[in-house]
Amino acid sequence: MGLDVRAGSHRDVDRCVDLWTRIIAARDGASVAPAARRSIEVAFTRPVVRFAVVGGHEPRAFALTLVKDGRIALLSRLCVDPTAASRGIGTALVTDAVDHARAAGFSRIDLDVRETNARAIALYGRAGFVAVSEPWTYDRGDLMVTLSLGLAGED
Ligand SMILES: CC(C)(COP(=O)(O)OP(=O)(O)OC[C@H]1O[C@@H](n2cnc3c(N)ncnc32)[C@H](O)[C@@H]1OP(=O)(O)O)[C@@H](O)C(=O)NCCC(=O)NCCS
Repeated sequence: MGLDVRAGSHRDVDRCVDLWTRIIAARDGASVAPAARRSIEVAFTRPVVRFAVVGGHEPRAFALTLVKDGRIALLSRLCVDPTAASRGIGTALVTDAVDHARAAGFSRIDLDVRETNARAIALYGRAGFVAVSEPWTYDRGDLMVTLSLGLAGED
């Protein structure tokens, strides 16, 4: 599988929801709650800045970047099939999300990550994201941290 990042289409959505559900279940060692699956389905109905996919008919990785508020973008979901991990795909998808949000005129891009997700936090740090919040509690009880990357020159 190459590292080509392509625009996702409506035909990719169900497979990406399935991929995300599988990856998160494997990561957490537990099945994904119906409410969590519903939340990613809802995410795909929100205004999109960039939906990017790696892989052909069966996506192996994707990133979904949404409009958070006004000129602020939100990297809402990022996941890479574990069989394709550590090849730079996550990094390529973050770079793609940042490039698209910047080109669309957003002033910054935010994301929320579990504070225990060290690999993801290191990847975001290499891309220039910095923590802008104290740890906060997500409704399932996870401790989260908000990271942000300024996109406008003056930020
Ligand atoms: C976190 C996640 C997105 C990382 O994706 P990934 O494709 O493995 O990330 P990358 O390959 O870009 O970078 C990760 C590693 O590969 C290394 N790497 C980057 N580019 C590389 C390349 N071209 N060749 C070899 N290794 C490379 C990095 O140094 C890094 O090292 P590490 O394995 O010690 O962490 C993925 O593990 C995932 O989907 N996790 C589950 C979902 C999740 O937690 N999402 C984030 C929630 S906010």
